[in-house]
Amino acid sequence: MSDVSSIISATNLNKTYHLGEVKVCALQDVSLDINAGDFVVITGRNGAGKSTLMHNLAVLDRPDSGEIIINGNDVTKMTKEQRTELRLRHLGYIFQEYALIAELSALENVMLPAMMLGPTRVARAKAQQLLMTFGLQHHMDHLPSQLSGGQQQKLAIARALINDPVLLFADEPTANLDSVAAHEVLEIFQRLNNDGGHTIVMVTHEPEETAYANRLVQLVDGRIVSDERRRA
Ligand SMILES: Nc1ncnc2c1ncn2[C@@H]1O[C@H](COP(=O)(O)OP(=O)(O)OP(=O)(O)O)[C@@H](O)[C@H]1O
Ligand SMILES: [Mg+2]
Repeated sequence: MSDVSSIISATNLNKTYHLGEVKVCALQDVSLDINAGDFVVITGRNGAGKSTLMHNLAVLDRPDSGEIIINGNDVTKMTKEQRTELRLRHLGYIFQEYALIAELSALENVMLPAMMLGPTRVARAKAQQLLMTFGLQHHMDHLPSQLSGGQQQKLAIARALINDPVLLFADEPTANLDSVAAHEVLEIFQRLNNDGGHTIVMVTHEPEETAYANRLVQLVDGRIVSDERRRA
């Protein structure tokens, strides 16, 4: 059952991929309640189901069975338009593989989600501000292919933040960053979590990054094997 204090309540999620004869159970009976203001870190080996869980929680994919309530609404019962609107207004997503649009400039990639909600002028100003925060002010007109892996990762982070999401999903957001840039990004997340009351769900393989979390969830073979709260 959903809990009213939860920003996301997922119950008994199952997701199986069929590759010819082979069945891959990516999520098996996963239940997870995330409270507003949580900083959740999800860990697990390659193939444990972390990205699959993130995609399902963030309404980018549908589970085969199970229920996901976000802000009191059952997302599995929403229309496609309602799901898109929810994502645009309230959810930010940093993809493991960036998912930048190759034909658009750095600035245009970051502006895009804001242009879908408001005037282009405002979207452009917000995107320029964010790109400066990430030290990308000299790369605004470059295409993603003209940027380094780390710069593309920062671009993906800026795009996820542009509509000021209450819920931010970050799938290995520091995987391609040097230690200084990784620290900067984690500090930004921590500030959003502390000051802005943003809820953050982050996947990482870096043991030291778990220090930022108040909640540590570990996945093994598509199941949650531990769910530990660190501080009140
Ligand atoms: N679109 C897909 N089609 C078929 N199988 C998939 C698909 N996406 C994921 N899988 C399989 O589901 C399992 C979980 O994948 P997932 O990407 O969620 O793992 P992960 O924990 O994010 O791994 P990593 O640490 O490598 O990013 C894997 O066995 C993977 O091969
Ligand atoms: Mg993954």
